[in-house]
Amino acid sequence: MPERARIRIFDTTLRDGEQAPGFSMTAAEKVHMAEHLEELGADVIEAGFPISSDGDFTAVRAVAAAVRTSAVAGLARAVTGDIDRAWAALSAARRPRLHVFLATSDLHLEHKLRIDRATCLSRTRDAVAYARRHTADVEFSAEDATRSDLAFLCDVAAAAVEAGATTINLPDTVGYALPADITRMFTAVRARVGEAVTLSAHCHNDLGLAVANSIAAVQAGARQVECTINGIGERAGNAALEEFVMTLHVRREALPFDTNIVTTRLVPASQALAATVGIGVAPNKAVVGANAFAHESGIHQDGMLKHALTYEIMRPESVGAAGTRLVLGKHSGMRGLDARCRALGHRLDEVELERVYRQVTALADRSKMVSDDQLAAIVDGVQTRASRPRVTPASTSRQEAAWR
Ligand code: KIV
Ligand code: ZN
Repeated sequence: MPERARIRIFDTTLRDGEQAPGFSMTAAEKVHMAEHLEELGADVIEAGFPISSDGDFTAVRAVAAAVRTSAVAGLARAVTGDIDRAWAALSAARRPRLHVFLATSDLHLEHKLRIDRATCLSRTRDAVAYARRHTADVEFSAEDATRSDLAFLCDVAAAAVEAGATTINLPDTVGYALPADITRMFTAVRARVGEAVTLSAHCHNDLGLAVANSIAAVQAGARQVECTINGIGERAGNAALEEFVMTLHVRREALPFDTNIVTTRLVPASQALAATVGIGVAPNKAVVGANAFAHESGIHQDGMLKHALTYEIMRPESVGAAGTRLVLGKHSGMRGLDARCRALGHRLDEVELERVYRQVTALADRSKMVSDDQLAAIVDGVQTRASRPRVTPASTSRQEAAWR
């Protein structure tokens, strides 16, 4: 059995997550979400970017005071004013972390920052050393790491470590990298900076690869992963915390990594975020979407009624979801319909079931789903008074409980 490594979860829902249009949060909302993140077991909660606004400074300060066990990080550009402001916002934190970032790709150096590589190196050293005067917990992020020259990126990472950074984050800022690129980058930086420093992944989802890239990163030596609830974040978002954590969980035989995340808190945290920002989760969202444990097709319902593992790779309870849902629609079959009728207390003979089935599929062709009330009305129309032995709903079996 390979030794299992512990992966730290750095949640950036309240910083990168809220940078997405429509997702900003007030101080009270950030504190509310921070409580969820702490219950979830996040190792680090990035509370915001204190220099960005007075409101965010106040919010980071409020989160820092409210959080008890997780570390609380504040973001700062590699300049003293940002670092001082972030440090002031973190003053009440029990475990403060300063998170300093500077871009390292030539594209960003030339066109955005208008500085050369030598200046980037010296700014990195100066900013990290300055942050270290405030705290021993300093993270340095090389923005746009995946599009940076790898030898130069290694130089910057080594300079940050020499100056006192304890975590080096290598972001795929624009979600451009393939898993093989991530493997190459982490392997090279690991070789350069050694084992003592924690390497961190921060992957954006522009090509839908954020979680796959985060997995590649831990396989190549990263021991911290930055992610967000529901995968929110700049543009297409960040790696979704719930997807990364459940991938490690479900595929634990292939991935020898553990986190501190209490998986049964995943759906509550997802729903709390959706309610807080007023933006719902797509029904087909992995792990926490409304359809993640819903089955409409007859073949799938039949499989599920026989054995849940036929079409579910994790139990809904393991992520805090209410349970499996078998939904009546145009793809549903006889067996699923029969189970639903039984769960509602209707006992139908074969001929009645066939008639109900025909009407249900006709209705489902017109309207997307058939509700319990609609089903009851159809059953009522089909059954004669004599053949209507209404019994108490039998919800004893787990399969029948799946119908809601
Ligand atoms: O995507 C990114 O590069 C970032 C850094 C500020 C860490 O969010
Ligand atoms: Zn980011």
